[in-house]
Amino acid sequence: MAVLSRLFSASGNGMVAAVLTATAAHGGDDGLSDSNNCGSAGGEGRRRVSKRSSFFGRERNQRIGIMPLSVSVAPCPGLAQVFRLSKLKDTTKSPLNWPIRLKIMMEAVKALTFLHIEINPLTTHHGVKSSNILLDSDWGTRHPPPGLAVVSRKRWLVYRFPILSQEMEQSAEVKKKKSSVLTVGVTGRLGFELANASLEASHPTYCLVRSTSFSDPEKSRKLQILIDSGAIILEGSLHDEGSLIEAIKQVKVVICAVNSKQVLDQKPLISAIKKAGCIERFIPSEFGLDPDKTHISDMDQGFYSRKAEIRRLIEAQGIPYTFISCNFFMSYLLPSLVQPGLKAPPRDKITIFGNGNVKGVFMKVTDVAKFTISTMDDPRTLNKVLYLRPQGNMYSMNELAEIWEGKIRKKLEKIYVKEEDLLKKIKETPYPDNMEMVFIYATFVKGFQTCFQVEECGGVEGSVLYPNLKYTTISQYLDTLL
Ligand SMILES: NC(=O)c1ccc[n+]([C@@H]2O[C@H](COP(=O)([O-])OP(=O)(O)OC[C@H]3O[C@@H](n4cnc5c(N)ncnc54)[C@H](OP(=O)(O)O)[C@@H]3O)[C@@H](O)[C@H]2O)c1
Repeated sequence: MAVLSRLFSASGNGMVAAVLTATAAHGGDDGLSDSNNCGSAGGEGRRRVSKRSSFFGRERNQRIGIMPLSVSVAPCPGLAQVFRLSKLKDTTKSPLNWPIRLKIMMEAVKALTFLHIEINPLTTHHGVKSSNILLDSDWGTRHPPPGLAVVSRKRWLVYRFPILSQEMEQSAEVKKKKSSVLTVGVTGRLGFELANASLEASHPTYCLVRSTSFSDPEKSRKLQILIDSGAIILEGSLHDEGSLIEAIKQVKVVICAVNSKQVLDQKPLISAIKKAGCIERFIPSEFGLDPDKTHISDMDQGFYSRKAEIRRLIEAQGIPYTFISCNFFMSYLLPSLVQPGLKAPPRDKITIFGNGNVKGVFMKVTDVAKFTISTMDDPRTLNKVLYLRPQGNMYSMNELAEIWEGKIRKKLEKIYVKEEDLLKKIKETPYPDNMEMVFIYATFVKGFQTCFQVEECGGVEGSVLYPNLKYTTISQYLDTLL
């Protein structure tokens, strides 16, 4: 699989060109003329560069002006003093001289060559700019070149030039211990949050993206955000086995977040994981009610049986897995307080399905992503179902109504809909319009989210395993709807 040429035609020469541009561009009275400039990165200097614009913004490599640069302390907590280039506002300061510019430029080019051509797996840096090049206090003359590597600290991707400090190497070691993860579906709702959470947790993060996504402005915007945070985008598809195997071979963990309609499209992915033989954890696209515990005859058009079928296939192939049963996303049903057809919570009367005492669970999608990423390297979740039922996120419809009444300081008229009436309505309404009611029936009438004990069925609960992980409660979410 090729690292995307479309997005990243700059991944080879273009990147180098960008560095050359950033380090070589200068005005008439540049550093060449000034012998007074800093002899170290910690000193003051002035330089001029042409600014490289965002790939999705202005044209690549377009020069939009000459900008004087100075050197400032880089915010790398816990590291020895490290500097980076930044815009010089004080024009009385001296610019850098050409030998220094050339030195930085050559080190940057060497690092990019290493990343793009020599390293295995090949790595592409998508945020090359002056401020991403870190320097030590003597421009690197102190250390002999020890070979080059890349170091990432959340939003930072830093080249380890011969001039970077030893502490940064230690930081790279920490990162090495975090499993590399490939996420499928990052242009989607959940997948994007999964990739973000993976980057936040400093996992080397790869994303498998279909070529068609790059012509879609919204998807491109999401990809640019991920790239800026250090994600590596690989072009491929669930229907292209070669691309799958090549991507899988680069990682230890695979997470899939395709839409529920495409759940069976994971079969080629499972087969590729089996062939590659290197995956230590696979998290398939479930992220809802437990499909093994949700039995609603044929009302769901195979929604849950397809997810269960994928479980059986993973187990049969002996692939290490974690299944995530996060129950409802907050963005689904909660904005209307479980009132089909409404877009905001009711302020006069509320419809309650069943007797109103059966509990359901709502989780913010970003929290689902954080819990999911936490499980990847955790032996306690190996070959287990991770359920999400934290305190403050599990309420019955009667309790939801009460919480909302407290917030709007008003009693709501309650209209109870019996199970048989709900079933009748589901049958009368054509698919897929009836799915919202099917989910309500499964959750608030049948209790499939909460009618079993997690431990008794051999599962694990997210907030028990990760008590320090912060999440949004239902009450906090409802506050945003007031
Ligand atoms: N619990 C809940 O309340 C709830 C609510 C919604 C969803 N979910 C679950 O969350 C999971 C993800 O759903 P979602 O709504 O986030 O999905 P989504 O927004 O529709 O995104 C689907 C993603 O899959 C990608 N994709 C589709 N076919 C592909 C292929 N052949 N190869 C590679 N990538 C492909 C799409 O990429 P392109 O850009 O190429 O199209 C897109 O990035 C599902 O399991 C769903 O059931 C749960």
